[in-house]
Amino acid sequence: MKRIPSVRERNIVLIGFMGVGKTSVGEQLAKRLFRDFIDVDQEIEKTWKMKISDIFRLKGEEAFRKIEREMTIDYCTNTSLKVISLGGGAYMQDAIRTACLDHCIVIYLDLSWSLWKERLNVLIDNRPVLQDKKVEEMEQLFTKRQPTYQKNSFQVETDGREVAEIVSYLEEVIKLGWEIYGS
Ligand code: S3P
Repeated sequence: MKRIPSVRERNIVLIGFMGVGKTSVGEQLAKRLFRDFIDVDQEIEKTWKMKISDIFRLKGEEAFRKIEREMTIDYCTNTSLKVISLGGGAYMQDAIRTACLDHCIVIYLDLSWSLWKERLNVLIDNRPVLQDKKVEEMEQLFTKRQPTYQKNSFQVETDGREVAEIVSYLEEVIKLGWEIYGS
């Protein structure tokens, strides 16, 4: 059985739907906390030397989900003191979710559907999951995933807030948590 890291050492994992800002928030949060930042999707791209959209196209979604599961669980359980950003669908996998909740502090970046929809144009090109979907189908996927994202350590509402503001808020809450529960 793997050792569960202390509260202060525990990896901080960012979850949420595609394009809510997990990478931007994660990079800045990691700097504030003097930690390394890991974007699991970028690590998968480096490992397979391919863009995520090409992995979906050439190897299929199932192969992507398998490497996503292996790499995410590895980072979440075999490292510490990191800030880790997950792909938007990763947390839907039971094994990933369990590993994250057991070993890490899981933060959900919550964005409303109406504001997410405004970002669609910039997201769609390199998000294979959105390709060939009508907006109503995207909304269904968005809504279907919400209850699973709710299984978190804590969540932050991002509507109308700049990245810097979200990062400052998270830094404050995390440090407070370390003070209260840290050892
Ligand atoms: C996916 C989200 C993407 C990426 C892949 C699948 C999803 O990550 O992992 O395209 O199923 O929601 P981002 O959330 O970083 O866009």
